Amino acid sequence: MALKQSNMLAQRISLFPNSAQIEKQGPTSRLTVSGLSLLDLARQYGTPLYVYDRSTLQAGLQRYEQGLAEAYPAPSGITYAGKAFLCTALAQWVGQQDLWLDCTGAGELAIASAAGVPKSRLLVHGVNKSEADLRAALEQAGTIVVDNLGELERLHAMLTASSSRSPDLWLRLRPGVAVDTHAYRQTGQENSKFGMGPEEVFQAIQFCQLNGLPLKGIHFHQGSHFHDPAPIGPALDTALDIISEAHSTFGWLPDTLCPGGGWGVPYHEDDLPHLPVESYVQFISERLIKGCQIRNLPLPKLQLEPGRSLVAQAGVSIYRVETVKNTPQRRWLMLDGGMADNPRPALYRARYTALPVADLERPFAGPAWLGGPFCESGDILIEDLEMPDIQPGEYLAVPVSGAYHLSMGSNYNGARKPAVVWLDGGQATLIQRRETLEDLTRRDLPLIDVSK
Ligand code: LLP
Repeated sequence: MALKQSNMLAQRISLFPNSAQIEKQGPTSRLTVSGLSLLDLARQYGTPLYVYDRSTLQAGLQRYEQGLAEAYPAPSGITYAGKAFLCTALAQWVGQQDLWLDCTGAGELAIASAAGVPKSRLLVHGVNKSEADLRAALEQAGTIVVDNLGELERLHAMLTASSSRSPDLWLRLRPGVAVDTHAYRQTGQENSKFGMGPEEVFQAIQFCQLNGLPLKGIHFHQGSHFHDPAPIGPALDTALDIISEAHSTFGWLPDTLCPGGGWGVPYHEDDLPHLPVESYVQFISERLIKGCQIRNLPLPKLQLEPGRSLVAQAGVSIYRVETVKNTPQRRWLMLDGGMADNPRPALYRARYTALPVADLERPFAGPAWLGGPFCESGDILIEDLEMPDIQPGEYLAVPVSGAYHLSMGSNYNGARKPAVVWLDGGQATLIQRRETLEDLTRRDLPLIDVSK
């Protein structure tokens, strides 16, 4: 095998879960995760298939925890952002760890509560929480992150009317600085729909003081999938300036400061090497410590809120190549899944890589375009990727599939949502069954009784 190809193969393998290996079988080879052959899993459960490797989740969490323990001398914690991927089993895993769970609205809260995540570790986000979201949050969550002044007033009215105890409240600051990422993933900039400007945050603090609301934290999130932590510095300064002023005006201090999540991950061999998560944690810790020192403020609890950087690498999607189409311009490998289970390439032009699950060391045969089955020209999972000669009926595995695929999936063209399998210590467990044809009409009511 040419050196260039063997390097590229090693790089692609490094994007898969930590437990991924190439297992030699005589003259051929198999790609395994947690000791299980992806080919066997694809045959057993069908495709498109999503697998999640527990050991990768666990290792990712440990890196965050260790990074915080080494860099930040005051209390700290981690909230998993459930929007990246949530189902009962994943919420159960969160419940077993020393993790909080960020739920957007009543829907994610219902999944988390049903899985038994303790109320004290449930935090609710939402840029436009409905009455039902707020009611669910008041009943089921330990913390609500308030997005705007109107929401704060509505919450206060609901609490007064029900005379129930308020969960802890945090305020979402819009710091006026976004991180460097795709425009659709930026949230911290001045014209963003998320959060409150510094003046409004100050007013919200005053409102909580006047009304005896349990205001415990300040939060901001500047965007998702960034690789340079520098813009977090000025956002921390803005948050600390507000805190400093609120302290001198009302004697109020937050227990917790949360600079959100959003740390990026490598998806493609061209994204390597990637700055490690420890550098991000260290950057935030140092800036926060320094910012508190300058303003003579005590260190708050530092809470980070990652989604993607905890689950993305743990997930692998597996597709079957149904058709190979050679056109004058392109070699198309046509897969049985695409934008219905992974809309990210169509939404953000996200770049992925892939490997065949068997006979991995075949020589590359030139670039391929991996197309999905959906009636959209944008349904191209991967463009221009060096691949070996691939035959119909083969299976391809796409690494870094754990975040924002299934949670943003759809039933476009009648697609049935894929099965999800949990891999742990060489054992595979189905944690979400594949949708069936019956599922597609389960919510429907006929206009007329067609049986007559
Ligand atoms: N906290 C808040 C308030 C958020 O809105 C998000 C993500 C996170 C934390 C977690 O961000 P993460 O660590 O996962 O990057 N669909 C896009 C990403 C949207 C992120 C939405 N908010 C994508 O596929 O790239």
